[in-house]
Amino acid sequence: MSNTVIVGTQWGDEGKGKVVDMLAEKAGAIVRFQGGNNAGHTLVVKGEQCILHLIPSGVLHPGKKCLIGNGVVLDPEVFLKEIDGLAAKGVDVSPERLMISKKTQIIMPYHKMMDNCRETMKSADNKIGTTGRGIGPCYEDKMGRIGVRAADLADPELLRSKIVAALVEKNVLFEKLFKVEPLDAEKVYQDMLPIAERVAPYLGDVSSVIQDVNKGGGTVLFEGAQGVHLDIDHGTYPFVTSSNVVAGNAAAGAGCGPRQFEHIIGICKAYTTRVGAGPFPTELFDEVGNALQSVGHEFGATTGRKRRCGWLDMVVLRETARLCDLTEFALTKLDVLSGLDEIKICVAYEYRGTKVDYPPQEQNAMAYVEPVYETLPGWKEDITKAGAYEDLPEAARNYISRIEELSGVKVGIVSVGPDRDQTIVR
Ligand code: GDP
Ligand code: IMO
Ligand code: MG
Repeated sequence: MSNTVIVGTQWGDEGKGKVVDMLAEKAGAIVRFQGGNNAGHTLVVKGEQCILHLIPSGVLHPGKKCLIGNGVVLDPEVFLKEIDGLAAKGVDVSPERLMISKKTQIIMPYHKMMDNCRETMKSADNKIGTTGRGIGPCYEDKMGRIGVRAADLADPELLRSKIVAALVEKNVLFEKLFKVEPLDAEKVYQDMLPIAERVAPYLGDVSSVIQDVNKGGGTVLFEGAQGVHLDIDHGTYPFVTSSNVVAGNAAAGAGCGPRQFEHIIGICKAYTTRVGAGPFPTELFDEVGNALQSVGHEFGATTGRKRRCGWLDMVVLRETARLCDLTEFALTKLDVLSGLDEIKICVAYEYRGTKVDYPPQEQNAMAYVEPVYETLPGWKEDITKAGAYEDLPEAARNYISRIEELSGVKVGIVSVGPDRDQTIVR
C-alpha cells in the first residue's frame, strides 16, 4: 500500500472508521487532517465496538503511529477522556505513538457556548443542526487569527493572554446578544491549566513524522472526517460543517505536499444518510426509509440523533469523484439492502426543467431538484458472511457494476457488516 487518503463521499457516517481500521494494518501512521469531535468513527473488532471522535482509527493496531494534524480542531477534554477510555481497555496511548500537531487549533469552552447560542437563536428553518461541539466557532477564530493553538498549552502566559483577548469580544455577544452569563477569563485559564499539563507531552511536529515514516519506507493513511457534501466550500452551504472535507485538504491539514498521495478512497454507503438539517434529494419518508434506518441502525455515533435515510445518489457521488479525484470507492453497508424487492439509484436530477448530472451550485438549490431514478432488482440472501466477491448474489454484483458505470470509479472494497473481518477486497 502507498499513501492513501480516505474521504467520506456523502454526508458523513459512511463507515470511514471501519475502513481505516482495516487498512491501518498495512500503514505506518494514520493521521486525522480536519474536523474535530463532531466526528464519530465506529470500529468493530471481533464483535467489540469502539467509537472514536478524535483519535485516528488505526489506534487498535499496536505500534502504529496515530497523529492529529494541524487542520483538526481539538477539544482537549474530549481528547483526554478518549485516551483514558482506550487505556482502560489496554490500548497503548502513550506519547510514543500518539501525537498532536503543535499547530492544531484548540476548542475552548467559549467555542462550545457560542455554537449552542448561535443554534438556539436561529429560526427553525435556519438551524444547521450542528453537533454543538464548538467546531464552527473554533474555525472562525482560526481564520480570525485569534485562535489558541496546541503549542500555546505549554506556554501559560500566551495562553492566558489569548483567553483574555478572545473574551473581550465574545463576552459582549454572550451578555448583550445571547443574554447568557459572560465567562470569567481567569477561571477559563485556571480550569485549562491541569488539562494543558496532561496534553503537553503529546505535542509535536506531525509534518516531520509523516516525512520520516515515508522516508523509512512506511506508508501513511490520511483519515478524513465528515463527508464531501458537508465541505465548507463544496457542500450544501450553509448546511455544512466548517472545514474542507475534500481530499485536497489532506495535504494542508496534515502538513505534506499533494504529490504524496497515490490512492484516494471514497467511502460510500450503499444508500444515503444525513444527520442534521439541509437538503437531501433522495430522502425517503416511507417504510423503505424506515427499514433502512432500523436495519442499518442509523443513529449518529456522536449525538445519538436518528439519521435521515434515502436511496443512493449518483449525482452526489459523481461530484465527489470529481472534487477528490477518487481512485476507488469502498462500498459499505451493502448487507443493509438485503431483503428489498427492488433498489433505486438516483442517476440525475431535474432542475429548473433541465436534466443535470452534477449538483446545481446556487444556494440551497439541492432542495429544489427532483431525482431521476433507475430501478434495479434487489436480492433476498443474507450477505454478511460473504468472504469473496463471487459469494455475492448476482443482483448485488449488478448493483455494484451499475455504480461503477454511472460514476466511472471502480469499487475496490465491499463491506458486508460492521466487523473488521466482514470486508471483501477485490
Ligand atoms: P464514519 O463516521 O464514517 O466512521 O461512520 P460511523 O461509524 O459514524 O457510522 C457507520 C456505522 O455503520 C457504524 O455503526 C459501523 O459500525 C457500521 N458499519 C460500517 N460498515 C458496515 C457494513 O458494511 N455493514 C453494516 N451493517 N454496518 C456497517
Ligand atoms: P463523521 O466523521 C455526519 C454534520 C452535523 C451538522 C453539520 C454541521 O462521523 O462522518 P458541525 O458540528 O460540524 O458544525 O455540524 O455537519 N456533521 C456530521 N454528520 N457525520 C459527521 O462526522 C458529522 N460531523 C458533522 O450533523 O448537520
Ligand atoms: Mg460518524
